This record gives sequence, structure tokens and C-alpha cells, in this order.
Amino acid sequence: MNTDITDPWCGTDVPESSNDKCKNCFEDSFVENQTQHIKLADSEEYLEKLCKLKSLQKASSKKDLVTSLFEAKEDSIARLITSGCKIETEEETELTSNPLIRHIAPHLQALTANELVHLLKADVLQIVNESVLSGKVFLVVTGASRGIGKQLAISIGSVLEKGSHMLLLATNLNALKETAKNIPASVSVDTVSADLAKTTKDKLHDIIMQSLKDQTLHQFDRVVVIHNVGSLGPMNQCTNDLTDINMWHDYYDLNVFVPAILNGVIMQIFNEKTNTEKLVINITSLYGIKPGKYLSYYCSGKAAREMFFKVFAVENPEINVLNYSPGPVETDMYYEICNDFADKQVKTEFKDMLMKKTVLTCEQTVNRLLTVLKEQKYKSGDHVDYYDEL
Ligand SMILES: NC(=O)c1ccc[n+]([C@@H]2O[C@H](COP(=O)([O-])OP(=O)(O)OC[C@H]3O[C@@H](n4cnc5c(N)ncnc54)[C@H](OP(=O)(O)O)[C@@H]3O)[C@@H](O)[C@H]2O)c1
Repeated sequence: MNTDITDPWCGTDVPESSNDKCKNCFEDSFVENQTQHIKLADSEEYLEKLCKLKSLQKASSKKDLVTSLFEAKEDSIARLITSGCKIETEEETELTSNPLIRHIAPHLQALTANELVHLLKADVLQIVNESVLSGKVFLVVTGASRGIGKQLAISIGSVLEKGSHMLLLATNLNALKETAKNIPASVSVDTVSADLAKTTKDKLHDIIMQSLKDQTLHQFDRVVVIHNVGSLGPMNQCTNDLTDINMWHDYYDLNVFVPAILNGVIMQIFNEKTNTEKLVINITSLYGIKPGKYLSYYCSGKAAREMFFKVFAVENPEINVLNYSPGPVETDMYYEICNDFADKQVKTEFKDMLMKKTVLTCEQTVNRLLTVLKEQKYKSGDHVDYYDEL
């Protein structure tokens, strides 16, 4: 279509949102019998998206959603969606230069790829802006070298505002560095190898202060701590056989005591004087609320850790605390159950889930967690499972 021609219908723009108001548009007056030739209605979905897009495009004052995301994410998201293709087609250029086409050419009425990218970007940013991840964040993730912790670091790190800082902990430093490579350069990342089963309050304090050495505490709007580290412990012994106190100590050190101590250390560093918002996520399990044979360590450890964070939540009503249970997720831990678990029935069920591909991916469970955080329908300290309805 030649867009240089003066538009004879200018001034007859279709009013914005109401479909009914379109009845008297200029082009419709050629239709003699209105009852026989009713214009097809725009779909509700299309109108809703168009409305949202228009309001996004108008939002140019204060902190424009699209602009701020543009700084950090535009390239990667556009690349993701278009796999490197140039998304502006000839039709899209035409639509931009002559928006009237949209009203007279039904096949061009759907949102263009460019507009869909715009909307998607806004949706992602909405999670950041409207949620508990907004502002400059100091994020700590334990067990971030693989599995769920790695995905948590990558997914959450990718939506943080420029200037945020992350501290990733686990024993395998090279694997932590791999995780860090997936986080945008706008967010600084520290990777520290630490055996969290054999650490102390002082060591944890030093690790955190060292990580924050180039920053002032006040520059952070928010502190987010994700206690993800976890181990299964032996899965072939009955409760009556668990009489070795050192094994109990070792298990509880990593899975209960150190998460509690790390949490306390961070809360003491970011005390009330720093005026930072706080979000604390404990990665728990269905086994924290449901007993499983031969899983005394795991079940009791998860229950104790979850209850610790429930107490922490009631003592600190200003802090947002979530006990998130990720569902069955395909990680090394999951394979440990498939290979070593003494309960044959559960072992078979876990293997079946792998065969039927009903086991969750790390990405699925972390996306669900992001939705839980965005919706904010839980009460601080609640146990929320992947499968819970929101
Ligand atoms: N996978 C599931 O189906 C499932 C279901 C419910 C709950 N969960 C919970 O989700 C969390 C993550 O599980 P996952 O499946 O991702 O486990 P995973 O694949 O076994 O990963 C465990 C993470 O913890 C780290 N870690 C283990 N021992 C450590 C130590 N002594 N010091 C420091 N870091 C240590 C590991 O890193 P390094 O090896 O580098 O030390 C790794 O990054 C756990 O709390 C688990 O209980 C998992």
C-alpha cells in the first residue's frame, strides 16, 4: 500500500476501546442494509492487548516500563523470540506509518511481532517492578552450582535491576562460575566456594562482608536470601538404626543449623538501620510435611528448617518469608532417589515420572516460584507447593 497518499479518511479514526462505537464509522456508511452486513467484531483478546500496548506506549513520563527494560533486556528477549531474525516486516512498517490500515485490513489486525515483543517485555518487567524483586537487590543463593539453585540464580538474576549484586554459594567453584556466566552484566556476581556443612557464623559474616566490600549497605533497596542448599542423607536406614550422633550432626549442620545461622548473619548485617526490604525463601519439600519411609534425616530436617522459618516470619512481620516446595524436579538429587532409595515403591514411582516425562524441569519450578512471588497470595511463613492453586 502506498503510504504517501493523503489519507482521505483521516479524522475518522475509530474510537479507542468500544467496539459498539465503531458502528457509524465512515466506511460503514456505504453499507445499505446494516442488519445484513454487520462488521465482524474485534476479538476481546485483541482489544485487551491493544489497550495494554497503547497504555504502555503512552507511559513516557516517570519510570517508563518499556524504557527501563530496554536498558537491560531488549536485546536478549528480542533475540530469544526472533532467534536473531529481523522482526520488522514490510507489513509492520506499513502499520507503523499508517495505523489506519489496522481498521480496514482485517488480516493485519492482529498485534505485530514487534508489538508482541513489547508486551512480553512489559510482562517480564511487571514481575520486577510490581513485585518483591524490585529496586537494587542484594541476592544470596545457597547451592547455586547446579539443580534448582542454579536455575534460581539465573532466572532471578536475569530480572534484577541494574546495580543489583549477587552472592552464589556452593562447594564447586567452577560450576558456580558457569552459573554466573548466565547472569546479565548489569548485575554483579560473586561466587564463593564454601562447604556449608562446615562453616561458622564468623566465616559466613566474612564471606558476606567481603562480597559487599565495594558497596554500601544503604545502596540496596532489598535483600533476597534463598536457602536452597540441601542433601538427602542416607535413604536406606530405618529410624531405629539411626543411632550415630555424628551423622545426625553432619546432616543437621548443612540442612538446618547453617541455613539458620546464615539467615541470622544476614539479618544482623542488614538490620533496621539499613532500612532494606527483605524477602527470605526457604526451599522446602513435601517431605517436610509428609513422612516418608527411610527418610528420617530428610523429612525431619526439612520440617525443622521450615518451622524455623515460620518462627522467623512471626517474629519479623515486616519480612516476607516463603517456604517454597518445588515439586519433583529432575536434578542430581532426584537421580539419587531413583538409584539409592530403599523404598522400592517410591523408587519406582520416581523412575516412572522420568519415563513419562512428568518430572518437572528446574525452569518450570522456578517459573512457578516467580508466579507465586508475583501473585503474593501467601501469608508470610506459609508452605507453598508447586502444585498448589494460587
Ligand atoms: N529435586 C527435587 O525433586 C526436590 C524436591 C523437593 C525439594 N528439593 C529441595 O530443593 C533444594 C535443591 O535441590 P536440588 O534437587 O537442586 O539438589 P542438587 O541437585 O543435589 O543440588 C544441591 C546443591 O547444594 C549444594 N551443596 C550440597 N552440599 C553442599 C555443601 N556441603 N556446601 C555447600 N553447598 C552444598 C550443591 O553444590 P556443590 O555440589 O557445588 O556443593 C548443589 O548446588 C534442596 O533443598 C532440596 O531438598 C528438591
